[in-house]
Amino acid sequence: MKSVACLNEAPRDQLPEIAFLGRSNVGKSSLINSLLGTKLARTSSTPGRTQLINFYLVNQKFYFVDCPGYGYAKAPDSIRNQWHRLMEEYLESREPLKLNVLLLDSRVAPTPLDEQMLEWLMAYQKPLTLVLTKIDKLSSNELREAHRRLQRWTQNSSFIDYSAIQHIGRRELWREILNALSAPLRSPVVRS
Ligand code: GTP
Ligand code: MG
Repeated sequence: MKSVACLNEAPRDQLPEIAFLGRSNVGKSSLINSLLGTKLARTSSTPGRTQLINFYLVNQKFYFVDCPGYGYAKAPDSIRNQWHRLMEEYLESREPLKLNVLLLDSRVAPTPLDEQMLEWLMAYQKPLTLVLTKIDKLSSNELREAHRRLQRWTQNSSFIDYSAIQHIGRRELWREILNALSAPLRSPVVRS
């Protein structure tokens, strides 16, 4: 639907949004394609491919928002600063944002930037779903170890295992997304 470098250009129709966040190359665009059963979002083996916020309109009802990845070591400071400005504004003030989906690579221990992102997202108090990506690349022992690591890291928050190639986790993640989309709007407490 739209790729934007600043929020002034973002859609104004107030349709709810689901944001996909995570390190560069973690598999955000692939996961969106897997959920939608399309090749809509551009994927790449070159990290840092998605620099803009991409809005994908789904069934004319809501947006999947493919966010630019962080932690790309070769990115110049100017790109990093631009990323920070754009994402801070988006995460802090975007009213239609209903759910943040944070992706973590099952083969890599969470980095300090993942830690920062998790803290950031928790501070905003929006619903958050954690997803462990690329699990098709792990043996069952390695997957168990990845689970243990993540449980330690998140103090036992739940998460969804995902493979964008085998579409593992798709049903479970859709359930979370549909739940978030159907959650009642928070209304002010009215005292009589
Ligand atoms: P940026 O846009 O750079 O932030 O990356 P991204 O998070 O959108 O990652 P992308 O979806 O482009 O995937 C990066 C690489 O990982 C590509 O080569 C994908 O084919 C591969 N990949 C993504 N998901 C999976 C998965 O579930 N399994 C396997 N085996 N490879 C995956
Ligand atoms: Mg991408």
